[in-house]
Amino acid sequence: MSRYQQEFQHATQTPETFWAEQAKRIPWFTPPSTILSYDEHQHARWFGDGEMNISYAALDYHVEQGRGEQPAIYWDSPVTGKKATITYSEMRDRVAYFAGGLQALGVEKGDRVVIYMPMIPEALVAMFACARLGAIHSAVFGGFAPNELAVRIEDAQPKVVVAASCGVEVNKVLPYKPIIDHAIELSTHKPDACVVFQRKEHLAELGERDHDWAALVEKAPYAECMPVKGTDPLYVLYTSGTTGKPKGVVRDTAGYAVALAYSMEVIYDVEPGDVFFSASDVGWVVGHSYIVYAPLLRGCTTVVYEGKPVKTPDAGAFWRLIEEYKVKSFFTAPTAFRAIKKEDPDAKLLEQYDISSLKNLYLAGERLDPPTFHWLDDLLDVPVIDHWWQTETGWPIAANVPGLEPMPTKAGSATVPVPGFNVQILDRDGDQANAMEQGSVVIKQPMPPGCLVGVWGDSQRFHSAYMAAFPGYYLTGDGGYFDDEGYLFIMGRTDDVINVAGHRLSTGEMEEVVGAHPAVAECAVIGIHDELKGQLPVGLVIPKDGFDGDETTLENELIARVRDQIGPIACFKQVLVVNRLPKTRSGKILRKLLRNIADGKEFGVPSTIDDPTSLEDVHGAMRERSVGAADKATPV
Ligand code: COA
Ligand code: AMP
Repeated sequence: MSRYQQEFQHATQTPETFWAEQAKRIPWFTPPSTILSYDEHQHARWFGDGEMNISYAALDYHVEQGRGEQPAIYWDSPVTGKKATITYSEMRDRVAYFAGGLQALGVEKGDRVVIYMPMIPEALVAMFACARLGAIHSAVFGGFAPNELAVRIEDAQPKVVVAASCGVEVNKVLPYKPIIDHAIELSTHKPDACVVFQRKEHLAELGERDHDWAALVEKAPYAECMPVKGTDPLYVLYTSGTTGKPKGVVRDTAGYAVALAYSMEVIYDVEPGDVFFSASDVGWVVGHSYIVYAPLLRGCTTVVYEGKPVKTPDAGAFWRLIEEYKVKSFFTAPTAFRAIKKEDPDAKLLEQYDISSLKNLYLAGERLDPPTFHWLDDLLDVPVIDHWWQTETGWPIAANVPGLEPMPTKAGSATVPVPGFNVQILDRDGDQANAMEQGSVVIKQPMPPGCLVGVWGDSQRFHSAYMAAFPGYYLTGDGGYFDDEGYLFIMGRTDDVINVAGHRLSTGEMEEVVGAHPAVAECAVIGIHDELKGQLPVGLVIPKDGFDGDETTLENELIARVRDQIGPIACFKQVLVVNRLPKTRSGKILRKLLRNIADGKEFGVPSTIDDPTSLEDVHGAMRERSVGAADKATPV
């Protein structure tokens, strides 16, 4: 039996002993005596009575172990032209004083703090400072509009909001304060205070509720680490579900720390002192796990990059960073490499850099499409590792495991389930699918440490979204299959979640925004294939009877609405006014059929369709307006 198989079996057959052993990877104030327990949904909880603090484990502990002078962070910001190196001891002190500042504002264990910050070291300082106090942070991605921020403030009820004065995108400075003020205005919950880190690129005007970060820290006491229970929440991270309201994924503390520490060895194959670069954003789960917590738990140096794969200044940016910081493990989304390939198809810019420090390249956030896999595989001398995971799981469910035993890669596959994740494929009736047969990808309980422990404030939603479909299993929402060698292929979502440039978005949420326009009678938003971003949303809209306005004006208003209410990151740029939408006789819009047409596939006319001519109408409209590959779609 291979090392991987042994480890997988051990984790699956005797999870308690396996994870009790892994728990030794992190420093505890009080080691756990209860390793595994179950909540009322029969969902696994880990290390409930252990006590630790993740800020201590990731910072203070390493300083005590002699890593104080090692860089914890390399900050590299081509959009501002700045760089900084912060050592472990500097980082610990910055975190401790900022935590003292939060304490002075009344933040205590269990309180929520919303963080709205770009890719600057202070974002990490704020997150670790919350963790130091046992407060629960909720970081929100800067590309979301005030309304999205308001929904999160309303749900998480933070005592304090921590923000930067601005974000900096390619050639534009985005003031954050108006976004925050607007969001707080929209929310019925009002935080007590807002701390603003002033950036030179744009100084925010501070109001009564606001505190200047620097002034707060200057007067703040040094805060020690508060012991928290293993299952106490570390953060709430909102992610798109199938309804209009985002789900607050709740992460515990100790299980997360143990899982991340384990993953850094078996999946990411890095040692303390190595440099780890994850080109994501602190607003996404990849940022939480592999920019902030995991690299520092492992004693690595994390690269915090405020830039893009292209245009800052060119498609050689990643190669430059790998050379400059001697990056050993690099992680990004396939869309980033599609953007690089588009601008530099022969990778000429790579010739300017020495990337020999790189040992493994990791891709996730969306399926690594075979053409991008082959481009990278031909170009680089290192393994190109597609790995699959979700906000909910917090760390990879399926991956290659070079730290245990490197496996041959297969284009289109995320390789094998990571030890701890008992992944199965179930058919509609809940029966196990055979090899090569597609079905719902589920994870059999107990899920390993590190995965979500609930949906913030909504136990029922946790149950209905994840646990109800197949009792005893967690529903991932993805479809896929195992091949006959046990390789897992993830083929896409089985719900209304779409993936735009590695960002998870809900078409249901966009439909709510579009449908709220006074001139719209009905609408459908579908995700269609896009060469660069993987998917893009397209809206199909039926105006109300008697609508006599200009269709182009209506379309533009709807585009502006989604941008204003969800944010530019939704990339909602195409709307079509149509007369009818294809529906079943019971009135359900045939979204899958619409997607197939837009993606240029062959499509059958389902027997359940109410009016087959509605399909011809929509297909005609899509062809005329060049939606996706609708001109190639053929009825069968
Ligand atoms: N704050 C504010 N606005 C933001 C933002 C942020 N943090 N990030 C993106 N936006 C805005 C952009 O400015 C753009 O606005 P525009 O419509 O006014 O131009 C819009 O959101 C879309 O941005 P983006 O998706 O970045 O598109 P792009 O065409 O500028 O760049 C890529 C394309 C592929 C280079 C880019 O999407 C990318 O780097 N993707 C990788 C994402 C990633 O790493 N995901 C990892 C998750 S694991
Ligand atoms: P997020 O919660 O934003 O990380 O998005 C999770 C979703 O992204 C998953 O449910 C998948 O649909 C998709 N995804 C992430 N990584 C991969 C991958 N390696 N292969 C296929 N799909 C992926």
